[in-house]
Amino acid sequence: MLRSIRIATLALFALACALGQAAAQTAQPLFAPRPVVAQHGMIAGPERHATMIGLEILKNGGNAVDAAVAVAFALAVTQPDAGNLGGGGFMLVYLADRNETIAIDYRETAPAAINRASFLDARGDPDPEKSRNSALAVGVPATVAGLALALEKYGSGKFTLAQLIAPAIALSKNGIPIEADVAETLPRAAERLARWPASAKIFLNPDGTPLRRGELLVQTDLAATLELIAREGPRAFYEGSIAEKIVHSVRAANGVITLDDLKNYRAVVRAPVRGTYRGFDIVSMPPPASGGVHIIEILNMLEAYPLRSLGAYTTETLHFMIEAMKLAYADRAVFLGDPDFVTVPVERLISKAYAAERRAIIDPARAKPATEIRAGDAPLPEGKHTAHFSIVDQYGNAVANTYTLNFNYGLGMVVDGAGFLLNNELDDFAAKPGAVNAFGLLGAEANAPAPGKRPLSSMSPTIVFKDGKPFLVTGSPGGSRIITIVLQVILNVIEHGMPLADAVAAPRIHHQWLPDEVAIEEGIPLAVLRALEARGHKLVQRPVTGAAHSILVTPNGLIGAADERRLGALAAGH
Ligand code: GLY
Repeated sequence: MLRSIRIATLALFALACALGQAAAQTAQPLFAPRPVVAQHGMIAGPERHATMIGLEILKNGGNAVDAAVAVAFALAVTQPDAGNLGGGGFMLVYLADRNETIAIDYRETAPAAINRASFLDARGDPDPEKSRNSALAVGVPATVAGLALALEKYGSGKFTLAQLIAPAIALSKNGIPIEADVAETLPRAAERLARWPASAKIFLNPDGTPLRRGELLVQTDLAATLELIAREGPRAFYEGSIAEKIVHSVRAANGVITLDDLKNYRAVVRAPVRGTYRGFDIVSMPPPASGGVHIIEILNMLEAYPLRSLGAYTTETLHFMIEAMKLAYADRAVFLGDPDFVTVPVERLISKAYAAERRAIIDPARAKPATEIRAGDAPLPEGKHTAHFSIVDQYGNAVANTYTLNFNYGLGMVVDGAGFLLNNELDDFAAKPGAVNAFGLLGAEANAPAPGKRPLSSMSPTIVFKDGKPFLVTGSPGGSRIITIVLQVILNVIEHGMPLADAVAAPRIHHQWLPDEVAIEEGIPLAVLRALEARGHKLVQRPVTGAAHSILVTPNGLIGAADERRLGALAAGH
């Protein structure tokens, strides 16, 4: 019922935009969810316990990084499909006192025994069973290293790691009733979880049915793991008994992670990628995340079109957006990979000059078939499922964090005796040039598997700056769609003047070059859809699933918006 009201109001909003009444008039919030307003600190995240834990840290004088660490550990307990210890991600941090933004790359790496043939069958063809459903798919878990690094380097110093993990320990030990979000995702993952007794023990009833809404999820092994990390720090995870348990479970399932792989894992601090759009600074995640590069590339292409006066849901605006998306994803397939292994022509891809060349390919009246689109000329210079949260604190710091196990519940395999799920992130490599991953993303040489290499990601935690200060903190889960989701939140706010909650809730579109189709969420006027089809766009009505929990910093306070596409999401502030 609530959903149909939302769809009806979204349709109304879209119609208003299509009639050219967008922009200034959209100051009227037309549909749920209501934004949350606060003066000092704000968290917008995917799950209410975790949001409230982070908020307590902020209220007690912690900074955004302290809160992010507490939220991320809590989500590993309360949102087991994506919150994690056994996966990895990216954290963008704005430090107000230094007026500096840094990017923490805690993406998983391929174990040393992974090579170009690892995900191929006997005929040399990509074998998705290996890269998605086997223990070979497990990348070296990176989350614990990433969170520990974030706290050590950028935390306020007021909280120890143990203090920030304590709420997660209590939740895992005492148990939490299964809520709507997990009740929705668990049945879909039940078959994959049932393959591993250590997973079934936690998430399934003795008769094999998934835990239902209201039933208690108790995770005692996870509590013990968290207690060990709290007591001994990340070393316990990478060198101690937890490392041994990871290796034991993975190798028993024919995976290849070794104790050395774990010992050698390092989270990395990188410089973010930077662009501009209509006077705003766009600061986002660099490779091996692809989101930052391509959000900036698409914005650069779109900057030349008068999208604001064309309106948010008009045929013209959507046409230009779709065509720009296709061009950027064609580039992604060829150029992007782990910068520690391949040279990624980042500066060229995010330059205004390159965008002008790419824009020249766009026909304003006709959809260009994907077969007519190739990656651009960016010569190398010589020489299902993820969790995002946004935080702003009382000191003006900001964190955008996205982390993942890849699929919902990752590989589905819990580390025996340690209680946490492992990722199947290595499917994000291109098993061989031209192969597609589970999200249909094509990859090439730059993203070939190699020992110690990080698979390319679409994760895009982003901070938009206005007059040098954080203005919009955003990001999203959604696999290949993350890039276009974050793009649309930015456009909705900056270009179309939508209030934040509307910008997050508004219907989305997505094109990733291949397959050659546009995913369209419900709520876009039929007349616009027909007009797009007449231009040659192939439309498919499907949710552009994501959850862009975002925060807007305004002179009157902080505005938080949790994305309702994720059941149970919550923004809260003080
Ligand atoms: N595993 C999805 C991504 O990182 O893009």
